[in-house]
Amino acid sequence: MVSSENFDNYMKAIGVGFANGSTFKMTEIKFKLNKQFDETTSDDRKTKTVMTLETNLGWQRDEAMAKVAVVTGSNKGIGLAIVRALCKQFEGDVYLTSRDTTRGEEAVKSLNSEGLKPKFYQLDINDLNSIIKAAAFFKDKGGVDILINNAGIAFTAADTTPFADQAEVTLQINFFATRDMLTHFMPLIKPGGRVARFRSEDITEEELVGLMKRFVEKTKSGQHKDDGWPETAYGVSKTGLTTLSMILARRLSKERPQDKILLNACCPGWVRTDMAGDKAPKSPDEGAVTPVYLALLPPGATEPHGRFVSEKEVQAW
Ligand SMILES: NC(=O)c1ccc[n+]([C@@H]2O[C@H](COP(=O)([O-])OP(=O)(O)OC[C@H]3O[C@@H](n4cnc5c(N)ncnc54)[C@H](OP(=O)(O)O)[C@@H]3O)[C@@H](O)[C@H]2O)c1
Repeated sequence: MVSSENFDNYMKAIGVGFANGSTFKMTEIKFKLNKQFDETTSDDRKTKTVMTLETNLGWQRDEAMAKVAVVTGSNKGIGLAIVRALCKQFEGDVYLTSRDTTRGEEAVKSLNSEGLKPKFYQLDINDLNSIIKAAAFFKDKGGVDILINNAGIAFTAADTTPFADQAEVTLQINFFATRDMLTHFMPLIKPGGRVARFRSEDITEEELVGLMKRFVEKTKSGQHKDDGWPETAYGVSKTGLTTLSMILARRLSKERPQDKILLNACCPGWVRTDMAGDKAPKSPDEGAVTPVYLALLPPGATEPHGRFVSEKEVQAW
């Protein structure tokens, strides 16, 4: 057995320096006894054998223990700006994820040209297999410290797609697919983790899912207004998401209180992106401010949690 103290001494002895907080795992033991171990060997010989074993151990920075941030839909817009900010402010690996590998890798290159080094992982939140594969990948990395569910869609006002179809697609990605992400990633959130969600009582998750399905159904028969729903599929999807975040935050407080994970929904403001157009007042970097603030709440913080936050302030909901 090599104790951590021995390991420190060993690294010092061979002159290898690592940043404070780096962790390591043993990757291989390259040791072969040239001679049969002899029980009658003197104590001196035994000591030499152990030393040989130590000097042939393979050590590697333990990626499984590195801190990890994951941002969905971050090849452009606010998601890309969040990755940029986290690369500058978060001490750990920042994963830019995108449903399209080419667009994702282009985005990584653009950040590389700014001297930043995000990692890339292909993730389509609308594909359950993609989510399951990603969850297994990040589980192998030891879990996730920061999860920002940024991916989302919106039909433009001018879009002539029938409202029922818009409702189905919008709810599917903004609510149901984001819920799938949370279902598979919440168990991976490490103690002290931070989860931010874009936009959102006493309602259960099942009741909420039932309500969201009911909205989509009612749009198909054109009865959603009579049933009390507004004429905005995007608004319903994001309201559902904020409500879901409050339900999940309550569950975290009940089931994992010792882990002190903070989960919040937020609004970035009106931001100049492909989704919101060029008339919006905020740049993507400005839009990233509130989600990044939530992602980097200091260790030990207990608030905000289960809140709706905009401009770094908790808003009444
Ligand atoms: N802009 C605003 O004013 C504003 C205001 C309030 C809230 N928000 C919210 O902020 C978030 C980001 O918006 P944005 O303005 O940056 O929009 P955007 O520029 O249109 O970017 C949306 C991102 O989501 C990705 N995405 C869409 N569907 C996906 C899927 N199935 N899997 C993975 N990624 C997917 C897109 O990828 P592709 O490039 O492959 O399409 C893109 O990277 C959204 O949730 C939006 O609702 C925006």
